[in-house]
Amino acid sequence: TASYETIRVERKGRSALITLDHPKALNALNLQVMDEVVTAAEALDRDQGTGCIVLTGSDRAFAAGADIKEMRPQGYMDMYLSDWFSAWDRFAQVRTPTIAAVAGHALGGGCELAMMCDILLAADTAVFGQPEIRLGVIPGIGGSQRLTRAIGKAKAMDLCLTGRTMDADEAERAGLVSRIIPAADLLTEAVTVAETVAAMSAPVAMMAKEAVNRAFETTLTEGIRFERRLFHAVFATADQKEGMTAFTEKRPPVFTHR
Ligand code: CAA
Repeated sequence: TASYETIRVERKGRSALITLDHPKALNALNLQVMDEVVTAAEALDRDQGTGCIVLTGSDRAFAAGADIKEMRPQGYMDMYLSDWFSAWDRFAQVRTPTIAAVAGHALGGGCELAMMCDILLAADTAVFGQPEIRLGVIPGIGGSQRLTRAIGKAKAMDLCLTGRTMDADEAERAGLVSRIIPAADLLTEAVTVAETVAAMSAPVAMMAKEAVNRAFETTLTEGIRFERRLFHAVFATADQKEGMTAFTEKRPPVFTHR
């Protein structure tokens, strides 16, 4: 972790915290930030001691978007040949549950990165938007797809075509975020949620994540079939025996994570 320049990585028991720390540009997501976030998330994902990853920014900005100054001179062939932004897809492929703790601006790539996380927690100061159109471009890290799936066509079109932003209340009403938390408590609350998730059976939490994500990729019949296969599979885990035995014995479960 010592080699990162734009992020900080901390461990707390079975949960981990990645903090975007590039304050001069409101955590603008340049290629170095992308590389560091993806590298850190993949390393934590490989470590079986990690049960949940929190991703956060600063009070002012989760991230104010992809780095406009870095993109400005690029041409089509630069973008195409380097497959600009494709590494972010690897962040979405992380199997460990992830939580975005968003305060301040989550715009463009910032909103897109938050939407790649499994649980999206917003401070009451959070502001979301896909303002790319104002720069003469469109979202490029999945915003047109994930925002539309999250909040539906009406609001996604409104945000993507006008570039207007939404506050935390509107984002919660629209179903983009699961909870709004007073800004001062955001990180504590996010870590508490992470510790709750990290205390569950790790493979079972991964399967729950995989099953929910499948809903975005397939038909209802196939999705239910997929869920049923995983549901049957969890009965091969020691944690299923422990969880159900603990319930029967009226005590809290102690999952061994396998
Ligand atoms: N890229 C590069 N630099 C950025 C940036 C970005 N996305 N967002 C902010 N900055 C920089 C500013 O240029 C400024 O730097 P200087 O001090 O060197 O001028 C610094 O961060 C602070 O920003 P502001 O002075 O603008 O702060 P503010 O509080 O007045 O405004 C803001 C905050 C409304 C978020 C404003 O900074 C802003 O509109 N930022 C751009 C938002 C945006 O358009 N995001 C989408 C980017 S495109 C994209 O993300 C493509 C994609 O889909 C992947």
